[in-house]
Amino acid sequence: MPMESFVQVKPSSPLPKTGLINSQRQFPNGFLWGVSTASYQVEGCNENSQWAEWEKMGRIRSGDRSGVACDWWANAERDFDLARELGINALRLSVEWSRVEPEEGRWEPAALDRYRELLSALAQRGIRPIVCLHHFTNPRWFEEKGAFLYPDASLLFERFARHVVHALGDLCDCWVTFNEPNVYAASGYVLGEFPPGKTGQIGTAIRVTSVLAQCHLRAYRTIHELQPKAQVGWAQHYVVFQPVATVFDRWVAHLLNETFNETFLRLVEDGHLQFPLNLLDGNAGKVKGACDFVGLNVYNRLHVAFDLRNLAHMFGRIFVPKHVPQGDPGVERPYGEAYPKAVRAAVERVRPLNRPIYILENGVPDASDRIRPWLIVNVIRELHSLIREGHDIRGYFHWTLTDNFEWTEGWNLRFGLVQLDPKTQDRTVRPSGRIYAEIARSNALTPELAETYASEVPRPLAAQGS
Ligand code: BGC
Repeated sequence: MPMESFVQVKPSSPLPKTGLINSQRQFPNGFLWGVSTASYQVEGCNENSQWAEWEKMGRIRSGDRSGVACDWWANAERDFDLARELGINALRLSVEWSRVEPEEGRWEPAALDRYRELLSALAQRGIRPIVCLHHFTNPRWFEEKGAFLYPDASLLFERFARHVVHALGDLCDCWVTFNEPNVYAASGYVLGEFPPGKTGQIGTAIRVTSVLAQCHLRAYRTIHELQPKAQVGWAQHYVVFQPVATVFDRWVAHLLNETFNETFLRLVEDGHLQFPLNLLDGNAGKVKGACDFVGLNVYNRLHVAFDLRNLAHMFGRIFVPKHVPQGDPGVERPYGEAYPKAVRAAVERVRPLNRPIYILENGVPDASDRIRPWLIVNVIRELHSLIREGHDIRGYFHWTLTDNFEWTEGWNLRFGLVQLDPKTQDRTVRPSGRIYAEIARSNALTPELAETYASEVPRPLAAQGS
């Protein structure tokens, strides 16, 4: 299919009047109904990244290992067939830097060939690819140098981006530079949950974010140099921080919002952070405006109360009340409130950037499909309203197609439209997969689906949260 049409799609077709639960919600022609994935989580046998080390160090809370994951390096095509059967017309995947450049300056043509096969396989199935250059994983050699704190990090990242786009550019013209720079920085330098496992280093996390913004800018320019018509953006993770009640709770929710949601976003929007964070934001001024679209990854609402003992969370106690809709719990704590209106908050926040918007991730951990149908239908209902209000939303990518290796949670949290047994590699489409297929195929949320799944709020899990 002509890739041109991918990026030119505009939500120009007039939408029928909707609003009542029993009316048909039609989406604009060319709307992308996708799924998102990440190399480390699906490919398997990724031995050469800092996450492989992290696994060896016993840092996966569930004790699991990624192993062959979803076996994509050998056979992603099996899942691409499933995606096509489900009516999915777009798929986001990431390229594993540690495969492409296993040692500094040594490029592995076989790895790039395999990515070419994947992108061709998607094209053969009528599925449009979005390729992400960095989804949390670094080559081991890059991590050993200090990762994005290494003075030449942005040059190294730019060189990697150039290689990838040079090799794959005829098969893809829509690129995500970084997946969730804020999650990478916060999890690695404040929460200690991702490598390098540092805790409480808020200043360092902001410095890392600033470097990621500079890497994004270099990649943005390089991609455009090689592919003038390419569409380049990043995937912004956005959390709604809900203060409990008092002015102190509100203050703390504001601080969390500023340091987590707003950092990378503001660098792209304004080229600098707000005082006093601008004292740490380095040389990111030229990043202003460097994106052709905004990708949004939206999952949760987190509740926040002021608590002097929680310095690491900027004096906020973050929790998920027991009574709110939520997916399966993590090994040590709840995952978050499943909150369809978070999508509205995120879309409204990025409107001033005046760029097309893709929802590049949204989902819930839910092995038994207890809440996923409700979430999908309500989020899509919200998206339809947002489009009717004039927001330029071009696609929705569910996280994820097949259960995959969920970072520190291992196989404990299941986000797939398709259930996977990692041992046998057997796959079973969940009911939510069928629901999503119905929406994707009809390019609409039908009254029947809305009526069946939108209104009944799923029963809360017993005894979760604090
Ligand atoms: C990440 C994914 C992850 C998902 C579910 C997102 O923030 O990009 O890699 O699997 O959340 O936790």
